[in-house]
Formats: sequence, structure tokens, C-alpha cells
Amino acid sequence: MTVTRVLTGITTSGTPHLGNYAGAIRPAVAASRQPRVESFFFLADYHALIKVQDPARVQRSTLEIAASWLACGLDPEQVWFYRQSDIPEIPELTWLLTCVAGKGILNRAHAYKAAVDRNTAAGEDPDAGVSAGLFMYPVLMAADILMFKAHSVPVGRDQVQHIEMARDFGARFNHLYGEHFVLPEAAVEENVATLPGLDGRKMSKSYDNTIPLFAPREILKKLVFSIVTDSRAPGEAKDTEGSALFQLHQAFATPAQSADFARAFADGIGWGEAKQALFERLDEELAPLREKYEALMARPDHIEEVLRAGAEKARRIAGPLMTDLRRAVGLRDLREQAGVRTTESSKPALPQFKQYREKDGRFHFKLVNGEGQELLGGGGFESPRDAGVRVARLKLEGASGLREQDDGLWLGDLRIGALAPGVSLDDAKTALQAFVEEDA
Ligand code: TRP
Repeated sequence: MTVTRVLTGITTSGTPHLGNYAGAIRPAVAASRQPRVESFFFLADYHALIKVQDPARVQRSTLEIAASWLACGLDPEQVWFYRQSDIPEIPELTWLLTCVAGKGILNRAHAYKAAVDRNTAAGEDPDAGVSAGLFMYPVLMAADILMFKAHSVPVGRDQVQHIEMARDFGARFNHLYGEHFVLPEAAVEENVATLPGLDGRKMSKSYDNTIPLFAPREILKKLVFSIVTDSRAPGEAKDTEGSALFQLHQAFATPAQSADFARAFADGIGWGEAKQALFERLDEELAPLREKYEALMARPDHIEEVLRAGAEKARRIAGPLMTDLRRAVGLRDLREQAGVRTTESSKPALPQFKQYREKDGRFHFKLVNGEGQELLGGGGFESPRDAGVRVARLKLEGASGLREQDDGLWLGDLRIGALAPGVSLDDAKTALQAFVEEDA
């Protein structure tokens, strides 16, 4: 049964609002409860540093976002829930990926290009005010994703390019160093709600038109009553089309409730009454979550503990992978060099085949163990190929198929040679097993 790994990062640079809830938190928590899905949720606080240089705000946002996800039902026992900066393997992997990432690809990243275009239009140096962090943003994001071998990354349209870059860097690394990474797919959820904000434009921090997810009840009410409407009087029929009020209601209502609300619009419900109905619908869903949120916010020690436990769980994946990756790129224990045995080395050195030519011009081979002791050999061949064929067959099949007869060693119908004096057939086969394991 295949398991799909889904990974989501949340930049800790703000306070969750209703748009984040309907568009990301609510669907992601629901998806994390499905069978055969492994969900990874993390607080992307290294990413936050790229745009926020106010330490108190980064900390506050981390707390608020963690508390929000937990209040909305994320179960840290069932998922991986951690803080990016608790995983030192992530910046380490970022460097390995930096060294395979094409600079030209990063030049084309939307966020960076937009900054350059703005500067150019203003007659400034193209890179004015652009940090290397902004430029490297996609590489850090690729490390987040590739580290956990995520198959699927739910994102908005604006992030699709970043997932493509993660695939590109991962593929380059795999090509150079072997298949270490799963190449992720962006999952763009087409029918996830994008909510309008107070002014009718998309709800977004940058438009300053948001309704904070866990605003206290009275503030929620005030904000709902400040949503823009047209000037139609009570009794006049109202359009649901293009109505921020109606769309917000729809994101929190069943289809039947939504149909009722549409009928009320047609029947000329007054805006005050409609706002009251929306407020009640929102508060009904949010009040129990708000209560949990407030309890969580009062206990940062508990959240800190949850995040640390989450990091420990995540590092059980990241740590061993990083060990493999370091080896793969050549950041290695110097004692591991093939054939060199030191007293501290825990693994015995591998046996080796040696092929050589004698003074008579004929070709030979021998198998020596890690200490350099000869185990078996053969030779007197006219061509180096004759020796090579025997070495290749011995590596593949010697451990299981090598036989000793009166006239020497055989493998299938291929005459091999002879065991070295004092060496048993079993010793030779045990040594040959190392090649089978290496191959696997
Ligand atoms: N860039 C994402 C955003 O702004 C946040 C993020 C960081 C992320 N790392 C990630 C998202 C990895 C998905 C996967 O929303």
C-alpha cells in the first residue's frame, strides 16, 4: 500500500486570518486525517527572516501560528509538526543544494525578478535592497521539501515555480550523486476558497483587509460589520455575485445554508441583518477553536515542548539522510578509504580483485582480503579479457556458485583457478559475499 507524503511550510511572519484558515489550515488538517497520507507541517521561521527583521514579531508569529494549527485540530502525534530552525540538517542540506543550483535559475525566480524589475524601473541598481537571502529563498525551500522526500506540496499558484526549482535541484543532485531525492509535485488546489477581505479584494496581509482568525468575539463582530457592501436598502434584492459578505458566508456554510442565504439576498435582506447572520455563522465555527487557541497561547511552554518533540521526530528522518548525503558528496571519514585499514575502523576493509600481467606476458588475477592475504587466483590467460570475465562472474555469482573439484575451482562451466594455500572454499565464498552486498 503506497503512502503519500504531503509537506506544508508556513512562514512565521504574520497572524493567521480567515483566508489562511479556509484556504490552507482547514483543508490541510482534514487531509492529514486521511489514511495512507503522511503529513509534514512546519513553521518556516528561517524563511521569515528574509522579510521580517523584527525579532519579537518572528517569535510572536511562531507562537500564534503554532497555536492556531493545534487549535484547529492538527494532531502532533499523527503528523510531523516542527519548527524549521530546530532542524540543523536543513541549512546543511541548503548548502549542498546551493552547490548544484543554477544561478541562472535563481535569477528567474518571480520574487527576485519582481524586485529587480522594480529597481530597474526606478532607475536604481538592479539589486538595490535585495538580500542574498531573498535570492536564495528557493534553495532553502527545496531543502525543506527534499529533506523529507515529500511527494506532494500543496501550494498556491505563486509557489508553483518554487516546487519546480526544488525538482530541478533535486534532479541535478541525483544525477551527480545517485538517487537520493524524491522529486516533488506541486498540488494546486483549484477549488479551495480564496476569501475576499473587508474591502472586497482578496484577503491578504498586504492589503490590510484581513479578519484575524482568532480575533475576540467583539472584534470579530466589529470587523464583520465593516465589510463593504453596496448602498441597497432593506427590501431591495441584492446580488450574491461579487458580494464579499456572501462569499465569506459560503466558505463557512453548508450548501443548504448557503442556498438559504442566497434566497434571503433575493428577498431583500438588509445589510445589517446579513452581517449579523455572517457573524453568527463564523462565530459558531470559530468559538470552540478560539477557546482552544486562547488556552494554548497562555501556555507557550507547552507549545515549545510540542515543537521540540516534533523536531526530534523529524530529525530521525533528517539525521540519517544527511549522513548519507555527506558521504555521497565526499564529506567522508578519511579512514573509510577503500583498502586502507586502520585500527579504529569498525568495518573490516573489503576484499579486492587484482589483475596483472606476468613476465611471460600472460594475464592473471587474484582475490585478496582486507589484510592483503591472497584467497584465490587464476591465470596464464592469453588475453586480459579472460581474466576480466572470471573476475566479473566471481563478483556476481562466486559467493553462491563457486565449487572445488579435483582439478581446481569452477564456476558453472568456467574454470577459475585455485584456492590459495591454507584457504578453505568457505573462506573464499564469505569474502565474495562482500561484492554481492556492495552491489545491492
Ligand atoms: N514559501 C512558502 C510560502 O511563502 C513557505 C514555505 C517555506 C514552504 N518552505 C516551504 C511551503 C516548503 C511549502 C514547502 O507560503
